[in-house]
Amino acid sequence: MSASQQAVMRSHRLTPEQVPETVVEQLAPVEREALVARIKRLLEQENATLVAHYYTDSALQELADATGGYVSDSLDMARFGSECPSDTLVVAGVRFMGETAKILNPEKRILMPDLGADCSLDIGCPPEEFSDFCDQHPDRTVVVYANTSAAVKARADWMVTSSIGLDVARHLTERGEKLLWAPDKHLGRYIQEQTGADMILWDGACVVHEAFKAEGLAALLQDHPGAKVLVHPESPAAVIEMADVVGSTTQLIQAVAELDADTFIVATDNGIFHRMRQAAPGKTLLEAPTGGRGATCVSCAHCPWMAMNGLRNLAAVLESGSNEIQVDPAIAERARVPIARLLEFARSHKREVLGNNDA
Ligand code: 13P
Ligand code: SF4
Repeated sequence: MSASQQAVMRSHRLTPEQVPETVVEQLAPVEREALVARIKRLLEQENATLVAHYYTDSALQELADATGGYVSDSLDMARFGSECPSDTLVVAGVRFMGETAKILNPEKRILMPDLGADCSLDIGCPPEEFSDFCDQHPDRTVVVYANTSAAVKARADWMVTSSIGLDVARHLTERGEKLLWAPDKHLGRYIQEQTGADMILWDGACVVHEAFKAEGLAALLQDHPGAKVLVHPESPAAVIEMADVVGSTTQLIQAVAELDADTFIVATDNGIFHRMRQAAPGKTLLEAPTGGRGATCVSCAHCPWMAMNGLRNLAAVLESGSNEIQVDPAIAERARVPIARLLEFARSHKREVLGNNDA
């Protein structure tokens, strides 16, 4: 991007006031058991399948596992949703995941426990402003992260997730294409650095990952010299530089299981620890420092929007049929193109990225 273009690109990072408090559902054991039993009954009665992201509460992940549902990263959730035969998918995650499920499966009913479960990257990429940005660079292939609205995807040539962004950027670069990337500037910078792709970047960031601090990480590493550092690429460059493994949620879980180390420092949402403990029982998992609760971190390593998914609201939507995801059919038709392109690319070029539950 030229200096003058950079000057007009305003920051699209959220202010602390735009970020809700992270509130994790607290349930007494009796209520929890009753809700789990009720949800199991309702899933069967409604011919519904629960698909959950690794960052959601462990109770939801356990329910998905116990009922023939699915727990994974955002790419693999989309792939599973489009292959699952159920009439209804209940997506426990954030709204772009529900929208992606609806776009790929317009005939299905897609429910979400809380329609307010947004994402800081999605909020920080308003479709009209994004469309203007694209108009300024008509020579560039538009590549957007999955964490965007259907309207933003409708303006894109490709959608990617963190598990496959490097491969797509290399593929497009080999074809001689120059890229316009949005919205996560840290992931964009990482892809650019790793692949040498010619990219201009939207100035957005994830409030959870941007809070990880390299200085605190260095101090923690001094206390645990043999620890391996696992980092999601939405984190700042200084944190990524200290990583032993940089990858999507699925790739970080695989690293815990496969690497020969007892202790791991993990720079991503701490909801992932549930699956990591299952994948590598007995290993020690430490949260990468964010600056401390109430200090410089806003969400303190747990996404406030992911935390909006709970057993109570899951039971309620299955019972009432409310919180159905709707996507304007004209937008969905256009947004399907970059998503389907990615799924096809994943199938033909890099099947192994499809997650730890590969099917
Ligand atoms: P993954 O695609 O790695 O699951 O990440 C999604 C996400 O929202 C990370 O913050
Ligand atoms: Fe969005 Fe960040 Fe939450 Fe992931 S962790 S859903 S990128 S706000």
